[in-house]
Amino acid sequence: MNIVIKSEKEIEIMRQSGRIVAEILKILSERIKPGMKTKEMDIIAERELKKRGAESSFKGYRGYPATICASVNDEIVHGIPGDKELKEGDIVSLDFGAIFHGFHGDAAVTVPVGKVSPEAKRLIETTKGALKSGIAAARAGANLGDVSAAIQDYARSRGYSLVREYTGHGIGRKMHEDPQIPNSTEPPYGLQTGTGPVLKKGMTLALEPMLNIGDWHTRVAEDQWTVLTADGSLSAHFEHTIVIDDTEPEVLTGGWYD
Ligand code: MF3
Ligand code: CO
Repeated sequence: MNIVIKSEKEIEIMRQSGRIVAEILKILSERIKPGMKTKEMDIIAERELKKRGAESSFKGYRGYPATICASVNDEIVHGIPGDKELKEGDIVSLDFGAIFHGFHGDAAVTVPVGKVSPEAKRLIETTKGALKSGIAAARAGANLGDVSAAIQDYARSRGYSLVREYTGHGIGRKMHEDPQIPNSTEPPYGLQTGTGPVLKKGMTLALEPMLNIGDWHTRVAEDQWTVLTADGSLSAHFEHTIVIDDTEPEVLTGGWYD
C-alpha cells in the first residue's frame, strides 16, 4: 500500500478541483426536476467543466462513457446517464469527479425529484449523516477502521445496510489511490475499529457511504456499469473529498449543503 501525503501546494490545487466539483454538483442538484433526462445533466456538467478549464475524472475511465454517474432509485452507483425521464418521487444519486491542474476531486449527493416518500427522505438524510460521521472520525492518529466503524455504526443503528463491495478511496493525481476505504466493518471487505493504516496529516481521501433500505447485496446491470441493489430496495450515496488534519478534516468538495 502506498498512501500519498500531499504537500500544502498540492492541497491548494485540490481545493480548486474540489471547489469545481462542488459548484457543478450544486448546479445539477438545483436543476433536477420531473421530466428531465439524466443525459441532459451530463451535458450541463460537461459544459460547466469546460467553462472552468477542468476535465471529467470519469469519462474514459476504464471505458466509462459519460461525465457524471446518475443512479436512480434502486441503482446504487455508476448509473450511465440516458434518455429515461425522471419522475416525481424518484431519488437520484449524482456522482461527479473533476481533474484540474493534475489533481482530482470527487463527490456525490442523492437528491429527491419533487416530492418523495418519507422513507426516501429518511434514507437520504441518514446517508448524509453517515458521511458526516465518517468525516468526524477521520483525523491524524486515527485508524482507517475507525472511519469505517463510524460510518457503519451510524447507518446500522438507524436500520440501513451498507454496500460492501464498493468503497471510498485515496485521491490525488489519480482518482483512485490507496487506501481503499470500506464503509463497513464486516468481513470480507470491512475494516474493524483500531485496524488499518493510521491516518496522517496531508492524506487526501474520498469517503463515500452507500446505504440500502434492504440488504447489502448488489448486482450489475447488463450495461456492465450500473450497480443495483439485489433486492430492488432504494439506495442513496453521499461522497466528499477531504484532507486529513490534526483536528476535523477540511472538506474540499464541501460548503454548499449542510
Ligand atoms: N465516485 C466513484 C468512484 O470513486 C466514481 C467512479 S465512476 C467511473 O469510484 F465511471 F469513473 F468509474
Ligand atoms: Co469516489
